[in-house]
Amino acid sequence: MKIDEFKKLHSIIGNCREINDLVETIMHIAPSETSVLIYGETGTGKEVFANAIHGASRRSKQRLISVNCGAIPEGLLESELFGHKRGSFTGASDNRKGYFELADGGTLFLDEIGEMPITTQVKFLRAIELKEFMPVGAETVTKVDVRYIAATNKSLQEEVINKRFRQDLFFRLKAVTLFLPPLRDRREDIGELADFFLEQAALKNNYAKFQLTPEAHGILLDHDWPGNVRELKSVIETAATLSRTSIIGAADLNPIIHPNGYSSASKYSLVPTRKTPEELDREMMLRALFEIKKDILDLKDLVENNHPVKESIRVQEIKRIDELEKEAIINALERTNGNKRSVARLLGLSERTLYRKIKEYDIPL
Ligand SMILES: Nc1ncnc2c1ncn2[C@@H]1O[C@H](COP(=O)(O)OP(=O)(O)OP(=O)(O)O)[C@@H](O)[C@H]1O
Ligand SMILES: [Mg+2]
Repeated sequence: MKIDEFKKLHSIIGNCREINDLVETIMHIAPSETSVLIYGETGTGKEVFANAIHGASRRSKQRLISVNCGAIPEGLLESELFGHKRGSFTGASDNRKGYFELADGGTLFLDEIGEMPITTQVKFLRAIELKEFMPVGAETVTKVDVRYIAATNKSLQEEVINKRFRQDLFFRLKAVTLFLPPLRDRREDIGELADFFLEQAALKNNYAKFQLTPEAHGILLDHDWPGNVRELKSVIETAATLSRTSIIGAADLNPIIHPNGYSSASKYSLVPTRKTPEELDREMMLRALFEIKKDILDLKDLVENNHPVKESIRVQEIKRIDELEKEAIINALERTNGNKRSVARLLGLSERTLYRKIKEYDIPL
């Protein structure tokens, strides 16, 4: 197959040297069983490439199961990955298959692998090497035949140095490593990507084909795109939806594009996250439940081990109100993956006040 044919088949847009090199690599390694590690900032197309690898593999008739390791609360991750037996913990009212078993015969895509807790990493490595695992609460092993693709926007090497990621797992995963370039480093692809998203927007909404004016094109080329291709796609979709004619000009883009100023590698960019509000709410609820469970276990431990209650009361450090406020904002930003709208809602602030406080406390974004 020719490289252009492959790109078309897997909806990969871009013609810069880096993208063409990457496509050639995946055309070569897709049919093998080797695991692949994909690095790239948010929105650079890690999922697009994972899909293409699976789609071009011998496993393409079977399923590609995607798991976002950063979105599942730590306490639930193992049962989500490996499944559980009925009654193995409170709330486990049925046997449940985990993602490993669901991906049997196919591919397991582990997104945000850098967020996987160390204890789960141990079990994961064992499962890869032995091709078997033990569901939570089970007494026998389950065999699986799975190909692995992992993605991250963190440096796993650094995580290994800081002892947050196991070196043996890192070596096992990085058999083939792909680095997806940020969009600001391949500006020659912006025009083609914009045209592709404009075409999609027209098809989706039954509009006539859109065109960008040269000024609009210039604005797209000048922007730094901290949210990469996802940000570009969202800007184009919004402009196409709001525009009253089939010509998109500077006046259509200027109110939508945020001025460059957000640090380029920002995790908290203003790009809408791909999670729906329902997904975010569910995630938040799961996290809250997990925290409650942890508290209950701590209390149980306290009672069972008969610790004198006195000892357990820690003297709280006195903090200034503004310090507490800053901490609350940083904490909420981390939990919502930088989604400012959710942060504002969670903290009971207006978005405007939130922005002001972020600036006032100099919170790094
Ligand atoms: N080369 C590309 N060609 C066409 N569309 C692309 C390309 N790269 C990314 N996209 C589109 O941009 C959006 C984001 O891509 P994707 O979800 O693959 O990014 P990601 O790297 O997985 O991001 P995150 O780290 O936030 O999960 C998707 O809608 C995807 O279809
Ligand atoms: Mg992704």
